[in-house]
Amino acid sequence: MESENDIKTTPRGFHCVLCNVNLPNQPSVDQHVKGRKHQTLSNVRTTRKTQEEHSVFVSGIKPDTSQTDLAEYFQQFGPVSDVIMDKDKGVFAIVQFSETESIQAALSCVGHQMKGLSLRVKPREKKDFKYIPKKKNDLENLQQLLDCLKPKLCQLPTVNAQMQFVVERFQLGENEKKSRGLLVLLLQEVFVEFFPDSQILPFGSSVNTFGIHSCDLDLFLDLENTKVFQARAKCPSEQATEAMSDDSRSEDSILSDIDLSTASPAKVLDLVAAILRRCVPSVHKVHVVSSARLPVVKFHHRELNLQGDITINNRLAVKNTRFLQLCSGTEDRLRPLVYTIRYWAKQKQLAGNPNGPGPLLNNYALTLLVIFFLQNCEPPVLPTVDQLKDLACEEEECVIEGWNCTFPSQSIAVPRSGNTQDLCSLLAAFFSFYAKFDFASSVISLREGRALPITDLLCHNGKIEEATDDQKPSKPNQSGPKLGPLNVLDPFELSHNVAGNLNERSQRCFQKECQEAEKYCRSLQYLRKSTKGKSWGLVRLFTPHGVTQTKPEELTISIPFKSDVLPEALRSQLRMAGDGFRLLWFEKVCTSVERVFQNILRCHLASSMDFALAEVSAADLSAEMETSTTSLNTSANDSLESVEFTENAAATGIKRRLSSGSDASVSPQGKKPRISKRGKCEPPHWLWVQKHLVWAGRRKVRRELIKETDSRPEGSCMEIESQVTAHIIQKEPELKNPLEFKVQPQLVGGTESTKVVLRLEPCCDKAGVFQDFFHFLDAFLPKMVETLLEKEVGLA
Ligand code: UTP
Repeated sequence: MESENDIKTTPRGFHCVLCNVNLPNQPSVDQHVKGRKHQTLSNVRTTRKTQEEHSVFVSGIKPDTSQTDLAEYFQQFGPVSDVIMDKDKGVFAIVQFSETESIQAALSCVGHQMKGLSLRVKPREKKDFKYIPKKKNDLENLQQLLDCLKPKLCQLPTVNAQMQFVVERFQLGENEKKSRGLLVLLLQEVFVEFFPDSQILPFGSSVNTFGIHSCDLDLFLDLENTKVFQARAKCPSEQATEAMSDDSRSEDSILSDIDLSTASPAKVLDLVAAILRRCVPSVHKVHVVSSARLPVVKFHHRELNLQGDITINNRLAVKNTRFLQLCSGTEDRLRPLVYTIRYWAKQKQLAGNPNGPGPLLNNYALTLLVIFFLQNCEPPVLPTVDQLKDLACEEEECVIEGWNCTFPSQSIAVPRSGNTQDLCSLLAAFFSFYAKFDFASSVISLREGRALPITDLLCHNGKIEEATDDQKPSKPNQSGPKLGPLNVLDPFELSHNVAGNLNERSQRCFQKECQEAEKYCRSLQYLRKSTKGKSWGLVRLFTPHGVTQTKPEELTISIPFKSDVLPEALRSQLRMAGDGFRLLWFEKVCTSVERVFQNILRCHLASSMDFALAEVSAADLSAEMETSTTSLNTSANDSLESVEFTENAAATGIKRRLSSGSDASVSPQGKKPRISKRGKCEPPHWLWVQKHLVWAGRRKVRRELIKETDSRPEGSCMEIESQVTAHIIQKEPELKNPLEFKVQPQLVGGTESTKVVLRLEPCCDKAGVFQDFFHFLDAFLPKMVETLLEKEVGLA
């Protein structure tokens, strides 16, 4: 049995070669081979082997070559059971026969000619099946695709030409558009039989002018007229009865089985799925995803190798697709920019969520980021959505679900931009714009074409208070957008953050990649074609990161501003502080940091540069922030632009407590901020002493403590962590030479995402333990500070 060969004995137990996992003993081997991963991989291996034995590799095809073309051509050698095209279509295909003899027939034929194409037919390579973890696989695919593009891109004379080439290479071909159109017509004919007067409308990348070869087909099944039809049929007035008697459609429809006005979306979608399965040829893999934000029926069209999605509550998407079409029609530079940025984001694994819902940007959000950038160029390349509304005529007025969706239907109605920047410089400017963007404290509004302060949206329960009358949703209690590390309001549905799925890591990666790209775009390698045939321009920009590319960071720990996890009371205070909210938040973070070091990790405060200062009003804070934003400084070896809190506090004469929670007995008495020769304060800092390895073995101690108490009571995180420290201090010997280290907090924001950066520096580390402690703090401190802020434990 193959499964038996998969398990090898090792000095430490066993190893499963198929799944690449170590197993300690026989019972775990038995369990493993019955488990899902092993079973799935075994099945995949068997299927692959069968496919390999029945198929040939075909190259020399074109992007518009269809599976049907290939199936028809290869039928002459024997029955064809499947044709698999490569993901991006147009490079190769695998043709699978029902009988192995057909392979020999196909291989022995010389000069395969199909519809004017010379096909190359090769036997399949016999490879041992090997499980490759997804990530590596993705990286290899990305690199392979770029390798195909590279020669052509490098040959072109300018970055502008390279960007135009990216559009040509990826955009949907005329044949693809036609075949999608035909499928829409077919679906329309089928659905109207079952849902009289219904309409099937494509939206998204198939029609928004940003589609690529492999993009899916998003469809909205509009049942509004069907509901009217059904209502009329249910309580027929005389007139309606007349109409009905002429109309035999009600007999064919399935409306007698379902009441559309009351049925749940899931129920309607079940019907849609049943229709697709039974009545649409070539459609397979039909399933309903009712857990999505908008429930959807997914299907695959075999002949067109096309993934389709049907929704029934998505009228706004049809409208925002028209908006994207309008933007493309108005501004020719938009498509090359969007295609290039989408491809860049895919290569850097910032967008796309290849396995369904995920924390990366979706393509719609990324496109909106490009449009927002263009609204903010000087002069603007694209108008704001509010400006578009004013350009529309009366017939174009449109409100959907209470959201104003008015804009001109024709791009001719929109004045051309006075901005003459070329594509190459706009692309570089896009990266600079987002490299310096303060994502944490802003909400991107395409409606207004500006970044709104996040504090505007930190109101009760996150509900929008300030939407103008024509933007207010008709539905009462419509909740506000889900705020997160990156906030992009939908241009129409103002309560929807289209980037609400991003986590902190994906936001940080996006900004970091923009910073890297900004730097690269300043180099000659970006701007000038290499005379030695080396990679230049977009090629280097598109190169995916290898696994080892992350640079070792300096000893800093970042605590990002996360509006969504703050308690209501603190959100209100921040909102009241207006522009000065960053300083108020900074103060709370500093208090929490001090608590973590002092109360939880039991560090001793050797000294602190004490700012011990009085309470500050919201008005003071806002005045202070105004001063601080004007005195942003950039240090020579650090591209971070940061607000030096103390300098500004000194400059404005505002006094503040940094170490509000510090214990007077350990805090140096009566320390005043030191004034340097230039009359400025030294940056604030704490000098801590730690005598124990309080970070070593914490997880184990924590586990044991929780087991002892048998549960983890709510709000006890701080107590448990303090107990863990106390336990370690009690049980483990003291360090011979205590560790002394400095922690210096700094508030950053305005020109990048708002956060507190803590710089750590060992002052005395004879035991050589600082690195370990730092790695522990890097994960522990931000989480702990977040917990303290969430609960506002003693921060008021
Ligand atoms: P996608 O993010 O899939 O974009 O959203 P896309 O342009 O179709 O790109 P592919 O399919 O990944 O290649 C599809 C459509 O769904 C609507 C928009 O109309 C978008 O064009 N949509 C998406 C929203 O209305 N809101 C969202 O938050 C996301």
